[in-house]
Amino acid sequence: MNRYAHITGWGISVPDGLLTNDDIAQMVDTSDEWILSRTGIRQRYIAGDGQSTATLGADAALQALEVARVSPNDVDLIIVSTSSPEHIFPATASLVQDRIGAGKAGAFDLSAACTGFIIALNMAAQAIRTGSIETALVLGAETLSRLVNWEDRTTCILFGDGAGAFVLQASEEPGGVLSAVMRSDGSGGDLLTVPAGGSKLPTSPETIQDGLHYIQMNGREVFRFATRVMKQATEEAAEQAGMTLDEVNWIIPHQANQRIIETAARRLKIPMERVVVNLDRFGNTSTASIPLAAVEAIQDGRVKPGDQIVFVGFGAGLTWGAVAAQWTGPLPEEKRVVWPYRFYTLYQVYTRLRSLVLRFVRFVEGVIWGRRR
Ligand code: COA
Repeated sequence: MNRYAHITGWGISVPDGLLTNDDIAQMVDTSDEWILSRTGIRQRYIAGDGQSTATLGADAALQALEVARVSPNDVDLIIVSTSSPEHIFPATASLVQDRIGAGKAGAFDLSAACTGFIIALNMAAQAIRTGSIETALVLGAETLSRLVNWEDRTTCILFGDGAGAFVLQASEEPGGVLSAVMRSDGSGGDLLTVPAGGSKLPTSPETIQDGLHYIQMNGREVFRFATRVMKQATEEAAEQAGMTLDEVNWIIPHQANQRIIETAARRLKIPMERVVVNLDRFGNTSTASIPLAAVEAIQDGRVKPGDQIVFVGFGAGLTWGAVAAQWTGPLPEEKRVVWPYRFYTLYQVYTRLRSLVLRFVRFVEGVIWGRRR
């Protein structure tokens, strides 16, 4: 019996802090006209105090679980794709797991920059298809504003914060994630990088003074690379899934730059009416951008059950990839209402208390075992 990995839930979370192009023009030598004409971006949202990759991710995850009508306790695996994790370790995925109270889930972070959501989707789908798990949460979550040099006009105009989540569930009905293409070319690693803060160049007063803890980018080279690989990955993923490009209802690309997306669509001979774009309002949210665009298109009724979709991404690494999927929506058998979503605030109090109790038990155990030694 074949098993399929269906996308049965979806959610997004965007911080409150709106930053327009005019606001950025107050900070660096640029203009709304320059940013809009070169990138298509009008505004982006920036995380404020108390908001971070894990808080945005957890909000998106709970919404996605609510749509799928799945309890956090039924989640087997959480993958958080991010380039702006809470810490080097622990994994942001573990912090999301704690925040949503997913007591039985494994959790790990996936680092493949803006392509990460594509790869995470494929990894979760593979785990479901092999029968190793039933239900996965796949997140793209970023607060890249914390890695941006707000004095560098070549990068600070591009990025925004946000998170998106999909629930994937096993089913014997054909559909869901059907194929995937994953590629990398590390020889271009220096084209888009945060040089310091890792093992090669640990943070030091010198790295901070030289601004090496900020995003650095060769914009022109990234642009050239992106337009080339998007066509190739989209065609390969569609072909592997047995779709012709004419049969693909929607291309949902990584939202980096309007001109990159238009060039790729032109090369694919796909009209822009079949391409989902929302970067004008969110900027480049890196690995969160594909779910942010997808969820908007589902919520406003553009994407319908049965639609064939290619998600395509590219980014630092260099990395690129695509996933072809058939959209289905929540599984028909999942009719129950799951209690966390009826009493959302109460549930959040419960997960915080749960976390506190676990910490307290660990503390008490530590005292007891410490005394015995
Ligand atoms: N405002 C005004 N002028 C700016 C500017 C800004 N924000 N940023 C750069 N410029 C200037 C440059 O200094 C340069 O001036 P010069 O000709 O006097 O030297 C000029 O504009 C052209 O710079 P260039 O880098 O060639 O611009 P561009 O047309 O390539 O656009 C990007 C720059 C970054 C918008 C574009 O290269 C891009 O989008 N690349 C892809 C980046 C991306 O998507 N990264 C994420 C991938 S996941």
